[in-house]
Amino acid sequence: MAEAKIIDGHAFAERLRGKVAKQVHELRDVHHITPGLAVVLVGDDPASEVYVRNKGKMTQEVGMKSFEHRLPGDTSQKELLTLIEGLNDDPEVHGILVQLPLPDQINPDAVLAEIDPAKDVDGFHVYNAGKLAAGLPALVPCTPLGCLMMIKDTLGEDLSGLRALVLGRSNIVGKPMAALLLGENCTVTIAHSRTKDLAEECSRADILVAAVGRPKMVTGDWIKPGATVIDVGINRVPGAEEGKTKLVGDVDFEEAIKVAGAITPVPGGVGPMTIACLLQNTVTAACAQNEIEVPAV
Ligand code: GUN
Repeated sequence: MAEAKIIDGHAFAERLRGKVAKQVHELRDVHHITPGLAVVLVGDDPASEVYVRNKGKMTQEVGMKSFEHRLPGDTSQKELLTLIEGLNDDPEVHGILVQLPLPDQINPDAVLAEIDPAKDVDGFHVYNAGKLAAGLPALVPCTPLGCLMMIKDTLGEDLSGLRALVLGRSNIVGKPMAALLLGENCTVTIAHSRTKDLAEECSRADILVAAVGRPKMVTGDWIKPGATVIDVGINRVPGAEEGKTKLVGDVDFEEAIKVAGAITPVPGGVGPMTIACLLQNTVTAACAQNEIEVPAV
C-alpha cells in the first residue's frame, strides 16, 4: 500500500490567513470595520509568551488591530475581571482571548465566564459550548475547528456516514471535535482513558482524531487502512542526542504513515492551524457583532 498523504498544516494555515486577510480588506473597504483582537497574558510563562507574540504578529499581518495586555503574575482575579469588563465594552475589540494557563490565585472558569460570549473567539464560554452542543451557530474552539477544516480538505465537504473516533474528552478539543463531526453527520465515538478495547474502537474509524497527550500511543495496528488521522498531541520527549528533546504526537507517525490514507505530522500539522482559526473566529465575531455576513472571498 502507498504511504499516507501528509497533511501540511503550515501550507493550509497560510492559505487560511490569506483568506482572512481578504475578508479583513473587504470589511474595511465596504463596511468600514477593522476587526480587533485583544490577547491577555498574566505572568511570564515562556511558552505562553511565544504564543502571544505570534498571535499579535499574525493579527497585524492580516490587517486586524491587535491589543496586547500583559499583567504581572501576582495579578488578582478581581483585577483581571475588571480588565475583561473593559474589553467587553470596547467597540474596537471584537475578540478576547485570555491565555491559559492562569496563575493559581485565578480561577479560569470565572474568567472565561466573564468574557462576552459574542467576543469569545476561543469558544470556551459555556454559552458557546452549549450552542455548539445544540447544533446552533457558535464560536468554536480553534483547534477542533482547524482539524475539521483539514479533514474536509482531505475527504471533501460531505463526511456523512463516516465513522469518526475522537480520542480524548477535553472541553478544549475532544468534546467540541465530537460535536463538530456529529454536525457533519458522522457516526461519532468518544474514547478516553477508561474505554475498553481502545485499539478495536480506533481500528473501525474512517476519521481518527487523537488528543490525549500520550506520546505515540496510537500505533499502526490501531489504524484502519486508508483512514484520515489527525494528531493533536504535542508531547516533548527525549531526542536521539543526549540532553536534546523533540516533539512527537499521540500517534506513532512512522507506523501510521504506512497504514493511513492521510495524516497530520507533529510538528507542522494541527499546530500551525490554531492561530489561523483564531483570526477566522475574530472575523466571524466582528461580522456577527455588526450583523453582516462573513465576506465570501
Ligand atoms: N494556551 C494554549 N493554547 C491556548 C488557546 O488556544 N487558548 C488559550 N486561551 N490559551 C491557550
